[in-house]
Amino acid sequence: MRVYVCHGPNCASRVGPVWQALTLAVQQSGTAERCELIVSGCQGRCEDGPNINIYPNLTRYARVTPDDARRIVSEHIVEGRPVAELVFLPDY
Ligand code: FES
Repeated sequence: MRVYVCHGPNCASRVGPVWQALTLAVQQSGTAERCELIVSGCQGRCEDGPNINIYPNLTRYARVTPDDARRIVSEHIVEGRPVAELVFLPDY
């Protein structure tokens, strides 16, 4: 699983605590070997940051808080269930 965490210009000032929470939760859950945390550039939805994209089967999360990050690790990464209420749905 690849977890792209936006560190683009608009998310950079807000993503620090989210990155820390993700890093710790991945370590504590024992998923570090199958979950790669990746610093990404802008994901194109700056007003909704901090943003995270998870592959495979792209899932987008927006406005992620540290609590959300811990939940994404325990439910999506560990249990394989995307956290429906945190998924970013663009309003087209
Ligand atoms: S800087 Fe994060 S989505 Fe643009």
